[in-house]
Amino acid sequence: MPWETRHEMLFALLLYLACLLPEVMMDQKTKEDYCRFNTTVLLMGTNLNASSIFNVEWHAQLNGREKVSILTYSPGSNNIYINESYRKRVVFSHLNFSLTIHYVTFSDEGVYTLTIQLLNSQQQIGRTKVTVIIPVSNVHITSETSVPHQGKNITLNCLGMAGNAMSYSWQKCNQPLPIGNRTILSKDNASLTFINIQQSDIGNYRCVAQNALSSGHKDFILQLCAETGVSPCWSYGIYGYPGYLGYAIVLFYIFSWVKRTRKSSSKGQSDAIYENTAFENTPTNNGKRVPPVYIRHIKK
Ligand SMILES: *[C@@H]1O[C@H](CO)[C@@H](O)[C@H](O)[C@H]1NC(C)=O
Ligand SMILES: *[C@@H]1O[C@H](CO)[C@@H](O)[C@H](O)[C@H]1NC(C)=O
Ligand SMILES: *[C@@H]1O[C@H](CO)[C@@H](O)[C@H](O)[C@H]1NC(C)=O
Ligand SMILES: *[C@@H]1O[C@H](CO)[C@@H](O)[C@H](O)[C@H]1NC(C)=O
Ligand SMILES: *[C@@H]1O[C@H](CO)[C@@H](O)[C@H](O)[C@H]1NC(C)=O
Ligand SMILES: *[C@@H]1O[C@H](CO)[C@@H](O)[C@H](O)[C@H]1NC(C)=O
Ligand SMILES: *[C@@H]1O[C@H](CO)[C@@H](O)[C@H](O)[C@H]1NC(C)=O
Repeated sequence: MPWETRHEMLFALLLYLACLLPEVMMDQKTKEDYCRFNTTVLLMGTNLNASSIFNVEWHAQLNGREKVSILTYSPGSNNIYINESYRKRVVFSHLNFSLTIHYVTFSDEGVYTLTIQLLNSQQQIGRTKVTVIIPVSNVHITSETSVPHQGKNITLNCLGMAGNAMSYSWQKCNQPLPIGNRTILSKDNASLTFINIQQSDIGNYRCVAQNALSSGHKDFILQLCAETGVSPCWSYGIYGYPGYLGYAIVLFYIFSWVKRTRKSSSKGQSDAIYENTAFENTPTNNGKRVPPVYIRHIKK
């Protein structure tokens, strides 16, 4: 191996070590922090003694935007700089260097970094990923029809009217939805499609929408509209409720009843029936029998 190459490799190694050593991570992993929209988020500081610290800096890499410096503080000189845009809504603790941000919005989403420069020239870095959440509410399920015919396809679309960063899942009769090759979920699980719908698909389906801070659900009762036999379709179908046939049957019975009544009343019982009717119409205050003709006259 040529001398120059070995020299370069050594130099690269030294450079690598130089970059690596001063950085002592507070927390190897980036912390996740979910906070509700328009509330307050507390970004944790450190428990280091201020007397060993040279400089403190909070900055943020906002989602899809530039890196912004929020504040810098040096305990020695007690100098503090706070970005003008943040001055009104952040509170910084001089004791543990935590940062409190009020009224968080979606534009505050991103990774927040606390860099602590120690007097011995080491540094500590802590990162927190902030995600702003609107709680799930008002979950809806829509579909082209609520009573599909057997053998047809039907898609149930689930949507949380409020809420962000939602994920969806489905249950049938409170159990996770059995995966079949006639039940298809969309990529985001928000839509459930039944292919060639069968009797066995009937049941209560639930869509659960959830995000980091909340969840909501909506039920959908799937029924089948069979082509034959008694089914929900029959009563609401082309004949209407209860159907022309139904009306015809009812009318037939009414007619035959009227016929029978007339026959029986012609057997000399007409007076009794007439009197009963009249008596029911009479006011109960005096109990007097009033002829029906008279009552009709009063009512006018
Ligand atoms: C944020 O909350 C404050 C009170 O806590 C309220 O006055 C304000 O209207 C809210 N803003 C939004 C956009 O919800
Ligand atoms: C730091 O100080 C703030 C305000 O004084 C406090 O709310 C917080 O709980 C403290 N602890 C940490 C670990 O940040
Ligand atoms: C910080 O360290 C100084 C001396 O190094 C000590 O006097 C002081 O009590 C310490 N403070 C805390 C809060 O531990
Ligand atoms: C201060 O904050 C604003 C808004 O986030 C940002 O545009 C600006 O670059 C920040 N200033 C510095 C020096 O980072
Ligand atoms: C149902 O969906 C399947 C697969 O997408 C398709 O082959 C079939 O034609 C559809 N049936 C009806 C009745 O639309
Ligand atoms: C999926 O469909 C194929 C072809 O129709 C069938 O042979 C198979 O048994 C089905 N599998 C399940 C799990 O329903
Ligand atoms: C969809 O639901 C299945 C379980 O039915 C789950 O394994 C999968 O991770 C979900 N996908 C998404 C994108 O939520």
